[in-house]
Amino acid sequence: MTQKIRKAVFPVAGLGTRFLPATKANPKEMLPIVDKPLVQYAAEEAVAAGITELIFVTGRNKRAIPDHFDKAYELESELEASGKTQKLEEIRSILPPEVNCIYVRQAEALGLGHAVLKARSVVGNEPFAVILADDLIVADGPGCLAQMTARFDEVGHSILGVEQVESSRIGAYGVVELARPDDEGPCYELTGLVEKPKPADAPSDLGVVGRYVLTPRIFDVLESTAYGAGNELQLTDAIANLLRYERVSAYRFKGTRYDCGSKLGYLQANVELALKHPDVSTDFREWLQELAL
Ligand code: UTP
Repeated sequence: MTQKIRKAVFPVAGLGTRFLPATKANPKEMLPIVDKPLVQYAAEEAVAAGITELIFVTGRNKRAIPDHFDKAYELESELEASGKTQKLEEIRSILPPEVNCIYVRQAEALGLGHAVLKARSVVGNEPFAVILADDLIVADGPGCLAQMTARFDEVGHSILGVEQVESSRIGAYGVVELARPDDEGPCYELTGLVEKPKPADAPSDLGVVGRYVLTPRIFDVLESTAYGAGNELQLTDAIANLLRYERVSAYRFKGTRYDCGSKLGYLQANVELALKHPDVSTDFREWLQELAL
């Protein structure tokens, strides 16, 4: 029987240079989509997949993240005194009581692979998830991670979240090479992984997004993977090396992903979620229609 996924690693120690100056003193992962920070969407997705240990790999200027998930005594008593019970309930129930938050520091931003390796002693010898909060995924039905952990329960090996990408944009992704290119999916066995290929060299049209379920073997592989582009330890390189030892699959999730690490993706996510938000959807839709005239 496969081991249940209980732990999720959230690498949130990046510098967020594409969002400067907003990210000079504030973490990119605290940027709000309508009224909720990106990192909260990510934590909720993990909790919905049955995860009970949230492991944040943080760095300098990221103190707002632990503060966000902590109890806020002053704020709670203010809300209580002013009778704002709904708001009080909302901030009290950001995470269910059985969920633990653990913080690990990455002193230098030496890449996503390096950040994941920092979580090794907390994850230990069990399979785990990795969620990049700046990839916001609005799923059709169960959350993206829940879809992937359900698949992991069946196969027991590492799984990468992927989406179909247009040829003109494929060069910005890690792209998977499929054992059987004609497979219809949504689960595909991999033979390789190529980081940022030229469109003509892309082995498929499936690009890796910020959701992974990994076996603990990845830690040994990361230890022996060379630092790559920009002197960073790349998770993609390590997963390509993992394929020498274990099977790895790609999973095409049902849902829409917004690249909120880019300005365009961030703005698109805000518009789409505002159009669904009960507080503003009607007025916002009207305003957008006027704007488009
Ligand atoms: P990105 O490359 O998208 O984030 O990393 P970044 O480096 O913060 O942003 P830009 O490119 O400078 O604008 C993907 C995820 O990995 C984390 C980031 O916080 C982000 O959630 N990360 C990246 C780390 O935790 N540590 C690193 O050394 C690098």
